[in-house]
Amino acid sequence: MSSTTDLAGYTAVVTGASSGIGRAIAEQLAAHGVYVVISGRDETALDAVVSAIQAGGGAAVGIPVDLRDPLTVNLLVDAAITNTGRLDIFVNNAGVSYLGTILDADIEQWRNMLETNVLALLAGSKAAVTAMRAGGRPGHLVNISSVAALDPNSGVYGATKHAVNVITNTLRQELVDDPIKVTSIMPGLVATNIGRNVDPALLAGLVAMSGIDVEIVPGERLPDEVLAGAQAALSEIMMSPEDIAAAVLFAVTQPKGVDVTEIVVRPNKPANL
Ligand SMILES: NC(=O)c1ccc[n+]([C@@H]2O[C@H](COP(=O)([O-])OP(=O)(O)OC[C@H]3O[C@@H](n4cnc5c(N)ncnc54)[C@H](OP(=O)(O)O)[C@@H]3O)[C@@H](O)[C@H]2O)c1
Repeated sequence: MSSTTDLAGYTAVVTGASSGIGRAIAEQLAAHGVYVVISGRDETALDAVVSAIQAGGGAAVGIPVDLRDPLTVNLLVDAAITNTGRLDIFVNNAGVSYLGTILDADIEQWRNMLETNVLALLAGSKAAVTAMRAGGRPGHLVNISSVAALDPNSGVYGATKHAVNVITNTLRQELVDDPIKVTSIMPGLVATNIGRNVDPALLAGLVAMSGIDVEIVPGERLPDEVLAGAQAALSEIMMSPEDIAAAVLFAVTQPKGVDVTEIVVRPNKPANL
């Protein structure tokens, strides 16, 4: 039986690591000896993640970028190469979600989802592959999709995740002669701030389950302890960010000859929201 890959000494970029799933992925990679370049728009949140990783003995740098300008992704790849001389793993995780019907929606919400979930992922993948090829080492692209990509009626957010899967599969084909693996991770419901743009009335139920009284401000994050409390109370229907990070870690530690193309990770029961 071939052994799994030891990640010590590797370098990874994780987009959208100032919060939620991306933060958990960055923390778990760093705990396995990976130097992580993390990004997000919120500089304070990003600094807190870098400090937490460093306090745990890991190595990380935070680069604040707004990925709606897709060329900013080059700053992340440049930081990996400048600081460590290599790029082994690139996780396209940053994403936003606006729910609601197509006919009632706002074009700026569509633009935000398409630019963050799709365009930035394309630019990130291209920049990462260019750097990995130049480095001459094996590499791994991990794209955080969603179970919405498996649902034909999942609205504009779901359409962006269908696009993520199509892009992931196409990239795998384009990279068939390169030592670069491409994985799509499709999570079900996870307790994160992805709901920051949903109707506050929906979020109120979540906050109530946490037992912590906080004001819900549309578009803003909920405190970590609220999300953790709600996840603990609703663990049958809602996973933790660490559950998804564990799937990413599984994919990137497989032996050279094993290509984990996609992983679907769902809670025990579907949520009837
Ligand atoms: N939570 C779920 O139930 C679930 C299920 C399936 C898939 N997913 C996917 O998981 C991924 C991570 O989301 P999450 O659930 O962890 O939500 P989250 O806590 O809101 O994290 C989203 C991350 O993306 C970053 N981001 C958003 N817009 C950005 C932009 N324009 N430029 C740079 N960074 C940006 C955010 O950083 P800033 O706020 O600092 O900009 C944050 O770090 C997304 O792709 C999401 O679609 C989530």
